Amino acid sequence: MSKKKAAKPVSKKAAKPAAKKAVKAAGSSSKSLLVENRVFKPSADFVKKARISSMAQYQKMHAESLKNPDKFFGREAKELSWSRPFKKVLDWKCPNAKWFVGGQLNVSVNCLDRHLDGPRKTKAAIIWEGEPGEKRVITYQQLHRDVCRFANVLKRHKVKKGDRVVIYMPMVPEAAVAMLACTRIGAMHSVVFGGFSAESIKDRVTDCGATMVITADGGYRRGAVVALKKNVDDALKGGDTPVKSVIVLRRTGQDVHIEEGRDYWWHRELEYVDAKCPAVAMDSEAPLFILYTSGSTGKPKGILHTTGGYLLHAYMTSKYVFDLRDDDVYWCTADIGWVTGHSYMVYGPLAMGATSLMYEGAPNWPENDRFWRIIEEYGVTVFYTAPTAIRAFMKWGDEWLKKHDLSSLRLLGTVGEPINPEAWMWYHNQVGGGRCPIVDTWWQTETGGHMITPIPGAIPTKPGTATLPFFGVDAAVVDDLGKEVGKDEQGKLVIRKPWPSMLRGIWGDKDRYQKTYWSDFKGWYFAGDGARRDKDGYFWIIGRIDDVLNVAGHRLGTAEVESALVSHAAVAEAAVVGRPDELKGQGVVCFVTVKEGVKTSRDLSEELKKHVRKVIGPVATPDEIRFAAALPKTRSGKIMRRLLKQIASGETLKGDTTTLEDINVIAALAAASGED
Ligand code: WT7
Repeated sequence: MSKKKAAKPVSKKAAKPAAKKAVKAAGSSSKSLLVENRVFKPSADFVKKARISSMAQYQKMHAESLKNPDKFFGREAKELSWSRPFKKVLDWKCPNAKWFVGGQLNVSVNCLDRHLDGPRKTKAAIIWEGEPGEKRVITYQQLHRDVCRFANVLKRHKVKKGDRVVIYMPMVPEAAVAMLACTRIGAMHSVVFGGFSAESIKDRVTDCGATMVITADGGYRRGAVVALKKNVDDALKGGDTPVKSVIVLRRTGQDVHIEEGRDYWWHRELEYVDAKCPAVAMDSEAPLFILYTSGSTGKPKGILHTTGGYLLHAYMTSKYVFDLRDDDVYWCTADIGWVTGHSYMVYGPLAMGATSLMYEGAPNWPENDRFWRIIEEYGVTVFYTAPTAIRAFMKWGDEWLKKHDLSSLRLLGTVGEPINPEAWMWYHNQVGGGRCPIVDTWWQTETGGHMITPIPGAIPTKPGTATLPFFGVDAAVVDDLGKEVGKDEQGKLVIRKPWPSMLRGIWGDKDRYQKTYWSDFKGWYFAGDGARRDKDGYFWIIGRIDDVLNVAGHRLGTAEVESALVSHAAVAEAAVVGRPDELKGQGVVCFVTVKEGVKTSRDLSEELKKHVRKVIGPVATPDEIRFAAALPKTRSGKIMRRLLKQIASGETLKGDTTTLEDINVIAALAAASGED
């Protein structure tokens, strides 16, 4: 892995203005973001095989996709299998989009059946490795059979078209089988990440009105068993949810409670069904799934995606951004509980007929080289992971990679948060051996698929930028009045046209959909992120500018954590802010005032951390609890987060800022100044 070969900046057309001032990776990521000028062009070898192989070709296609979306997407959509062709590509009345009007299709048919006529029939659809080390290879033919049989289990339990099914599973192939089985009969799934608590499951089950939960006895994580079924039991305790049946996969084999008449073993249910299950033809705009994500209020939003547009975008981005081929071994390390696991572990790659690798457990189990071991063993060619993971690998040291042959890799990707140039360079040199393009893909649960991303054979990359918009994406950086800001100026990231995989709503809350996404700028989608564009027009994502944190690539609403804290008997008031964290991007700092008569202590702070884990789940574990006698507020009573953020990251006050007094002094000052 030669560093020299890797870091050669180029100065061809598109890269021209940027190439002159190559700089060293700076120590501080925010600083280096501003001066980052290195440009990397894909190798001639990569370009030769790429579907889109020049900047000019990208620009031409992007221009057509905006100017003539009907023609562009009409053509692309023909690559999917439709049981009834669509009559109209787009019907747009802001904020309601209908794509491929009149068309009917089935997602499982597009991901499975259509690959069975040719050589893909016996190709690996999913390669799976369990954390303890088991290995399974599931061909398209086998996956089709598994999905059909499980779809019949759903039917046996009276799950119908339009019903909601919650999936709370470890990273096992059956999770994908459950998702695809839902799509086969037109039921909607809502996958809940295994790191969420019983209470979070209950909230989601109740909000979407799920009649079935699919789970497992447990899953493996860092050598321990996560008690998934127990969490489901706790969530359903009291019987006040709409859930009628729970299907339980046996994964870990530990004892679990089985509630007569409600709980059924997955393997037993399969004994009653056959392997024939016709797919239901679904309207292009039929709901496909709901995925909950955090917003700026305490209540997570059920993001709704529909069938045709979502599938097309997942398919198209897998084709153009990951440039997937029949001989690729593609590995996305995301969990199925996040949108990345939906679009880029299941739907996108399978719609392409690709081989998708799935690994159940932690990257450092049993040792720090587990990922590199997997890449070597299976000959992974395309690898998609998160900056937070990359920073952890960097910290663990290069020796873990050096033990393994990573030469099969040809393309790398990142997602979830801005990647600092240092981490980008390390990824490029150490993992990619200097030869693999990196696609830094900016998108969101709401967008369904990649929005701003390099096209690897066409768009030269720079460390830390997601570069340019994908086809059909009309992105801009604007000021509060909607005017585009100047070069290198920071503003709000908006999307000015509908795109096929955009969310179609928030489940059960029409007003919130309109208000959250479409009311800051009339007719435009506001993403909640800040960004700037450089002299080449590249987008540099700064991060969330609303009250949403990004902790290790996971989205977390500060209001959610606050409401979890105040649900504890000792807490009077809480304010939660993020502070920069070297590994996780952001850490969670909670300022807490306690009720009269409660004594603050280290024990109480540990108890509050545990309480948040219990209410939301381990994903939301606070890094620090700081007790204060009062919180700084404006005259109108708004908590001054800006101040708290500065305190949390030690910006305002020199020396020890952690004491009660410091915060109280500020609270007093803030109250006196009445800043609003
Ligand atoms: C937020 C969306 C998209 C799947 C995973 C997260 C941040 C995401 C990038 C990137 C900079 C990024 C944004 C966005 N984000 N990708 N490549 N560069 N920031 O999905 O939980 O819906 O979070 O993640 O802030 O708004 P999500």
